[in-house]
Parts: sequence; C-alpha cells; structure tokens
Amino acid sequence: MRNINEDTITQAVIASFANCGNPRLRTVMTSLVQHLHAFARDVHLTEDEWFKAIKFLTEVGHITDDKRQEFILLSDTLGLSMLVTSQNNRKPANCTEATVFGPFYVEGAPFYSNGDDISNGAKGAPCYVSGQVRGAGGEAVGNAQLDVWQSDEDGFYDVQNQDEAGNVVHSARGRLRTDAEGFFNFRSILAEAYPIPHDGPVGRMLSAVGRHPWRPAHLHFMIEAPGYQTLITHVFRDGGQYLDSDVVFGVRSSLISEWKRHEPGVAPDGRDISVPWYSLEYDFVLNPSEVHA
Ligand code: BEZ
Ligand code: FE
Repeated sequence: MRNINEDTITQAVIASFANCGNPRLRTVMTSLVQHLHAFARDVHLTEDEWFKAIKFLTEVGHITDDKRQEFILLSDTLGLSMLVTSQNNRKPANCTEATVFGPFYVEGAPFYSNGDDISNGAKGAPCYVSGQVRGAGGEAVGNAQLDVWQSDEDGFYDVQNQDEAGNVVHSARGRLRTDAEGFFNFRSILAEAYPIPHDGPVGRMLSAVGRHPWRPAHLHFMIEAPGYQTLITHVFRDGGQYLDSDVVFGVRSSLISEWKRHEPGVAPDGRDISVPWYSLEYDFVLNPSEVHA
C-alpha cells in the first residue's frame, strides 16, 4: 500500500479494517472514517484548523475528571446525546418521552419514603411533587424506583459543591418507590433555569458560535420497574425561559408541565409554610420492555 493520495485514502483506511473480527466495530469504524473524510473534504479543512481541533479535544480531555465530564457536555451541546437518546427510545405515542441524561446523575442516591422532603437543605422555594407511574396499557406500576435529581435555586447540583471536609452532601436528590397503586409524592425545591458548566472548552465553543449555555428549569427522573423499559427524562417548568433554546436540545412539549404557585399557608404535608410554595403533578407512562415501537 503505497502512493496513497487524497482520492484513494478513504478506501485505503476502510480496507485496513478487513481483519477486524467484530462486525459491528467494523461497520462503525468504516462509517466514521467515511464521514470524517467527507467532512474534511467538504470544508477543505486547513492544517491550522486541524491543529486547533486537536488542541480543543486535548483541552476537553484535560478538564475531564470524575466530577466534570466535558466530553458529555460536548456531545450534549452538539445535539449528539439527544440524537442518540431519540433514536434509541422510540415509543408508542402514549408513553412518556425520554430526554438527555446529563452529567449530574449519581448512583446510589439516598432512599426516601413517599411524603419525605428530599431537598435536605438545598436552597429554593418549597415544591411538592406528586404523580402516578403507569404502564402503556393504563395499569398502575407499583414499587417502581424513581431517581430524582435537580439543581438548587443558584443553578448548582449537589455534586458541584463540597462541604468543608471535601465531601459531597446529597441534596435535592433521592430515590423513592411508588406505592401499590403507582403513586409517588415528595417535597423538594422549585426548579430554576441554570447554565451548564461553561468555564472550559465547551463554553468557549458556545460563545465562539454565538450560543448561550442555559438550560430551562427542569426536574430529572429515572424510573425503573421490572417488565418496563427504564425511562430517563425530565419535567420542564412551563412558562420558564430557554424552553425554545435549550443548550442541549432536550425539550419536548409533552414534558412541559405547570408548577403551580401557592400563597403562604398549609401545604399538602400539613405544614404551615410562611413563604410562597409550589406544586407539580405529573404522571409517567412506561413502555413494556418487550414492545418495540
Ligand atoms: C442536566 O440537565 O443536568 C444537564 C444536561 C446536559 C448537560 C449539562 C447538564
Ligand atoms: Fe439538569
């Protein structure tokens, strides 16, 4: 294999995968090379631009650690995460839509019971969340596990802050289970819009292309139940800013819901609250795992 030129290089690279024993890997690598080369030809990539891209990806790697995942942010802001989510979560129309996972999920969040306050001191207006988990046939899904997580009123998730000893104290995050009829309820705080971390290369890319780093206010859910596809989604706050310009392209109309404002007074858990409080009611519909739309 000699004298490869700009017209023959793509086929030469593809041919180099001939001995790949993994058919899926071969398919993915072949397509990746075809698209990468087509892109370089399309924009007539200069050597300077190629080097800048290498430098950018190097910076994305350097800022990434176990608390900061800049590669996921890059994928999210280029719409790749949402594309992968959408094409792998096609469901019947009555099922709750999935949206982007994001980098702030934590495995093993504290367990709570229905009715508990999961805010654990997080700053924000009180918010009472309730709903039911059902299957696509309308059946209640009892004992489903809900993972819930959200930012505080300053736009930070618990994992972005540490206490004096350097530990993360979980707040506005928790796991709970639906009751036998599929119902759940908990107290947390009002979701607010927040910017994704933008003090690194992804933030610089956003400002270079004239984009803001904001996400509209939302509450994350992951819902797992035997016999159903796991649902990873958010509920967005109706009327909030950025619903039409989410930096990660995650908004679906079906996921927007009203967070009702209430004057100070007695809340659903019987507490007398001296500040305005909010409530959100949202039902989720899971797709049975054996059904593929
Ligand atoms: C989030 O909603 O937590 C999120 C999603 C994508 C990028 C950054 C944050
Ligand atoms: Fe979020």
